[in-house]
Amino acid sequence: MTLCLNGAKILLGITGGIAAYKSAELCRELTKKGANVRVVMTKGATEFITPLSMQALSGNPVHIELLDSSAEAGMGHIELAKWPDLIVIAPATANFIARYSQGLADDLLGTLLLASTSRVALVPAMNQAMWLNPLTQRNINELLRIFQKNIDIWGPQNGEQACGDVGPGRMLEAKEICSNVEGLFSCKNPPVIGKGELFGKRVIITAGPTREAVDPVRYISNHSSGKMGYALAGACRDQGAEVVLISGPCYLDCPESVQRVSVISAIEMYETVMKELNLGCDIFIASAAVADYRPLHLSDKKIKKNGEADMSIALCQNPDIVASVASTPHKPFTVGFAAETNDLIKYAAGKLKKKNLDMIIANDVSNPSIGFNSEQNEVHVITKNDQIKLERKSKSNLSIEIVNLIIKHKLSAC
Ligand code: PMT
Repeated sequence: MTLCLNGAKILLGITGGIAAYKSAELCRELTKKGANVRVVMTKGATEFITPLSMQALSGNPVHIELLDSSAEAGMGHIELAKWPDLIVIAPATANFIARYSQGLADDLLGTLLLASTSRVALVPAMNQAMWLNPLTQRNINELLRIFQKNIDIWGPQNGEQACGDVGPGRMLEAKEICSNVEGLFSCKNPPVIGKGELFGKRVIITAGPTREAVDPVRYISNHSSGKMGYALAGACRDQGAEVVLISGPCYLDCPESVQRVSVISAIEMYETVMKELNLGCDIFIASAAVADYRPLHLSDKKIKKNGEADMSIALCQNPDIVASVASTPHKPFTVGFAAETNDLIKYAAGKLKKKNLDMIIANDVSNPSIGFNSEQNEVHVITKNDQIKLERKSKSNLSIEIVNLIIKHKLSAC
């Protein structure tokens, strides 16, 4: 068995809810995977599950009291706050979430959360009406607003509750929480807020133009700014994906928590994509405007005028990156773009088929206010059985819609 969490230091906070019994199984799952688990319980939690059980399952003393003299001597709250790689609060009750969002430090768990800079995963569990109550939602939103990338909210699930109600409020099952924890530790660029539909998925995106050198001072390129591809990278990241952005020359900042690999030419982009593909890829999005051709010969000296009125440069074809990805045996869900000046749908649909894509985004680049180097875009999203127009909006808002469609189609393809 591989110990995916080998050595990971996890502080498991248990608050007082009926779902606390699931935390025992969670503790067992985490330790089975190699994590070092320390348990902190609120007084309420001890009404639902005994500290002795949690001690036996974690193999470590359980911490309850803020001013417990024996605990202070062993591991005080400040020491405890500095210890974990990740704090998982499961179950997180409505009362606890309210206190946490207020920054209250009236018990050990509240105090060490205030003193800790570790990433926190909250696993809410409560009655559905309490979860849906605007006050709880406000508290959750406040925590997300304040901690942003340093907090995850996992769940709750819909379903039947201990009180007989049906609705959102059930705590996730131990195995699911454990796999979320594994995802966090295995992800090079941990997801931003919440679990997201692409949590645990690796997405590779190409963006921007390529430059095909003619000589040391000249190149062939196009008007792509990279804005569309960079916005897509942010949208995939916000859905919890690990994102690798393979970018041609652009003047844009890399979106936070996205891994950017900068390239210049189509050949370099092709080689980088193939290398990254080998490291795993669930979704590939080709938004780059890749030069179809490059100069056949690269002059190592600046080409001089030859005295003639005309001159020509022989070109040779570049590899088609997106078609190459789509022809691999374990092809990821592959999305292409089509930049067209006429017969938009016809040409885009043709490329969908010819390149064996799962989806193509048709871009009318004859309109200067959308497409290349614009702030806004409007596109047609075409799949084998579907075609939908996404109206004009900012590239970042459009990306959210495109990524939602990718999620919908990818899930239905699985
Ligand atoms: O970067 P922006 O300024 O924000 O502009 C966005 C955009 C207009 C560049 C973008 O939305 C877009 O339409 N990108 C695709 C441009 C393009 O090259 O289209 P194409 O029809 O020539 O290529 C079809 C598909 O094949 C594209 O997914 C392209 O990335 C891919 N391709 C093309 C050639 C090649 N050698 N390898 C490829 O992978």
